Amino acid sequence: MRLRDKVAIITGAGSGIGLATAQRFAAEGARVVVADIRDATAQVDAIRAQGGHARYVAVDVSREAEVQRLVAQTLEAYGRLDILVNNAGIEIPRKVTDMTEAEWDRLMNVNLKGVFLCAKWAIPAMRQGGGGVIVNVASELGLVGGTEIAAYAASKGGVVQLTKAMAIDHAADGIRVNCVCPGPVLTPLIEATIQAAADPEAERRQIIADTLLKRFARPEEIAHVILFLASDESSYMTGSIVVADGGGTAQ
Ligand SMILES: NC(=O)c1ccc[n+]([C@@H]2O[C@H](COP(=O)([O-])OP(=O)(O)OC[C@H]3O[C@@H](n4cnc5c(N)ncnc54)[C@H](O)[C@@H]3O)[C@@H](O)[C@H]2O)c1
Repeated sequence: MRLRDKVAIITGAGSGIGLATAQRFAAEGARVVVADIRDATAQVDAIRAQGGHARYVAVDVSREAEVQRLVAQTLEAYGRLDILVNNAGIEIPRKVTDMTEAEWDRLMNVNLKGVFLCAKWAIPAMRQGGGGVIVNVASELGLVGGTEIAAYAASKGGVVQLTKAMAIDHAADGIRVNCVCPGPVLTPLIEATIQAAADPEAERRQIIADTLLKRFARPEEIAHVILFLASDESSYMTGSIVVADGGGTAQ
């Protein structure tokens, strides 16, 4: 068990990549706080039914008071915090000329400000325990551009840079900060983007064609990478940007 007795907060863990990560972490012995804006008690019950330790905490990662409460409740329940996975994210597929100011603000507040707020409140708690690990979930779109995805790409580019800056600031605290950049992963988030396209099936075929492996990732395949970055197996890595994109950005 690679995470035996570690305490982990995973944001956006009610669905997709975050849920697969929560299930994997629990199977590896972690005590998992499933933090999501939407109710995830059923997901937590399923983890418990498998013998894992998990609890649901409702949080909007873009609101500081709620994030502060999330960390406080984690310390209250488990007495420490070892791992933070900043996974919560939303996508609003638009070019800038089609995007409202409110949409821009909402996307940035969840995808980028949420990472800042969770790190801000998690780091002091990790320091108390002698160190910790942060894994940020960015995207291949934080490294390259894409069509009608301007704000999302900007937010994920911000997460990549925030990863490096936080790694520098907190190495001396014994806190490693790394980032995973997934390519297309079959989850409700990408399905909604596909359905919003003028021709959804053509969009789906194009996404697959743009990878070298000619398929979507399964959420579990990204959870493996997050587990590696959260565990001692990646003990010499900090400030690293790990790409798991089926080869999409190799071309
Ligand atoms: N699916 C992909 O193809 C893909 C590719 C690259 C990166 N990502 C990134 O992976 C992460 C997870 O995405 P997913 O595909 O699993 O999406 P998903 O929609 O399946 O899950 C995202 C979860 O985040 C939660 N969430 C949304 N806003 C929140 C908020 N303000 N506070 C707390 N929780 C909130 C949602 O309720 C949901 O449970 C996101 O950051 C996304 O940008 C996804």
